[in-house]
Amino acid sequence: MAQDTLNHVKETTASKAGQSKVEFRHVSKAYGDEWDLEPVIENLSVDVLPGELTVIVGPSGCGKSTIVNLIAGFEKPDSGKILLDDSLVTGPARDRMVVFQESALIPWQTTYQNIVFGPKLRGDLKGNALRAEAERLLVKVGLSEFKNKYPLQLSGGMQRRAELARALINNPRIMIMDEPFRGLDAMSRGLMQEFFLRLFEENRRTNLFVTSEIDEAIFLADRIVVLSNRPAQVREVIEVNLPRPRDYKMLSSPEAYEIKREAMAILHEEAMKSFKSGAGADFAETYGKAGN
Ligand SMILES: Nc1ncnc2c1ncn2[C@@H]1O[C@H](COP(=O)(O)OP(=O)(O)OP(=O)(O)O)[C@@H](O)[C@H]1O
Ligand SMILES: [Mg+2]
Repeated sequence: MAQDTLNHVKETTASKAGQSKVEFRHVSKAYGDEWDLEPVIENLSVDVLPGELTVIVGPSGCGKSTIVNLIAGFEKPDSGKILLDDSLVTGPARDRMVVFQESALIPWQTTYQNIVFGPKLRGDLKGNALRAEAERLLVKVGLSEFKNKYPLQLSGGMQRRAELARALINNPRIMIMDEPFRGLDAMSRGLMQEFFLRLFEENRRTNLFVTSEIDEAIFLADRIVVLSNRPAQVREVIEVNLPRPRDYKMLSSPEAYEIKREAMAILHEEAMKSFKSGAGADFAETYGKAGN
């Protein structure tokens, strides 16, 4: 077996254990000009624990995507540090893969070509080994029959699954999902949540998932981190002790109801603050969800 392939197999085995963690330590980040700095994150400390699905919820515009961008290494903190398995995050790398709400698939490439794009570019997984891994992932995400289709020929849910496969082929230590199912219709969203849960429960790869939907958070999470209005602070960390494998019916259990009540009370309070500070649109979006 070629050394590259061997390394990939070794890494696959290592990350299966789901041992990677991310630590956010006293992180601050502001945007704007020197004389008009807008703090988005201030002295934020939060952990994404090994083998857990950590879900971040917070009011619209509170800084959730900024947290994602910092962990992914697309942005740098103004102060504080971000550690991946005790090493400082200094920039983007394939050990942290992000799936965004907006499709990042290359429109003129087929599903298969999109999935193999990263490893092919780097040359770290080639030939039969690359083909076999791509086929395995296509089966896993239920897209074998669509491997020769272009992104525009796929439904929204299929595009998300293609993106999951494209991220997973890099065998990241942590998967980061930034509202990946936002914009899908209710039925597709529910199906994607279940599909994603099965994938996570299979090998418990450390996962950070951002959402503004509290039901989605409860259904997926081991722990929910509830953020404040901007600048983002941790208001509460809620353990979700619903058994796995999860099932939609669990959302009507007394435990789920209690978590929803607790999280909604905080989110409502934070949304009110943003309303008072003039961010009416943010308020409307978050409060609209509170009534669901
Ligand atoms: N690159 C940037 N330059 C300037 N301001 C930015 C930048 N990125 C984010 N911001 C500002 O930081 C704040 C937080 O944005 P962010 O996208 O992190 O929030 P969010 O919680 O993900 O919002 P949403 O719920 O809409 O996804 C916003 O006021 C936004 O305008
Ligand atoms: Mg966002």
